[in-house]
Amino acid sequence: MEEMLKVTDLVRVYGRGSASTRALDGVSLSLEAGEFVGVMGPSGSGKTTLLNCVSTIDRPTSGSIVIDGRELTALRGKELSRFRRERLGFIFQDCNLLDTLTAFENIALALAIVKAPAGEIPGRVEEMARLLGIEDCLNKYPYQMSGGQQQRCAAARAMVTHPALVLADEPTGALDSKSARLLLERLEVLNRERGATILMVTHDAFTASCCGRVVFLRDGKLFLELRREGRDRKAFFQQIIRVVSQLGGEMDDVL
Ligand SMILES: Nc1ncnc2c1ncn2[C@@H]1O[C@H](COP(=O)(O)OP(=O)(O)OP(=O)(O)O)[C@@H](O)[C@H]1O
Ligand SMILES: [Mg+2]
Repeated sequence: MEEMLKVTDLVRVYGRGSASTRALDGVSLSLEAGEFVGVMGPSGSGKTTLLNCVSTIDRPTSGSIVIDGRELTALRGKELSRFRRERLGFIFQDCNLLDTLTAFENIALALAIVKAPAGEIPGRVEEMARLLGIEDCLNKYPYQMSGGQQQRCAAARAMVTHPALVLADEPTGALDSKSARLLLERLEVLNRERGATILMVTHDAFTASCCGRVVFLRDGKLFLELRREGRDRKAFFQQIIRVVSQLGGEMDDVL
């Protein structure tokens, strides 16, 4: 299988001297093309820091991040923003849709930015909206849409450019359980049918059980990984819950 993401010995230290925090302390992780991987761990364990380093929002103190064959830490300035724009997709908890644009325009903008041929744009926007179940919302402005619809619109915007890697930090964190399930179902479809490679941070065992593999961070280190391996979601959910409860008090907030 083709390797889409390879993180090697990643370290991120914030601050200096006695006041410093080792948010990531030697993390190594690989994702093959088409994998859907969840990242779990207690609050402060380094999940967001890991995602921010991979998404080029933050710079690691040391270590290497290779996405689709490119070493990220060697990219600078325009080259870096171009890589981010063309090869990465982001879904964050606060979905950052532009208020003055309709759902259609928000999704189309992502394609315009990567200079997709104008004639292709409407078809691609509509297809992605259908995949995410928001085809009836395309003419609405964000304030006219529910939180779940806005989040799926943000997911459509992240995926419409067919990024090499989609990065999601608690994408279901602000959603009620029904909207969360709907978004996850759609992410699973995009992963299965379109081969989208997804790295997703989550506190929630149900959300994690939709992934094919879940890695656990603690004190900036990866210390465990679980693979779904053909089991159904429910069985994987039970296993995640067992691990989380075995880890004891420090993971209580995960349940
Ligand atoms: N900009 C920063 N400056 C200083 N310390 C930081 C900074 N960002 C994160 N940290 C510290 O790094 C550690 C890891 O933070 P991170 O945000 O990655 O945790 P997390 O696993 O995402 O937690 P949560 O589940 O609460 O979102 C924490 O101890 C945090 O206080
Ligand atoms: Mg976080």
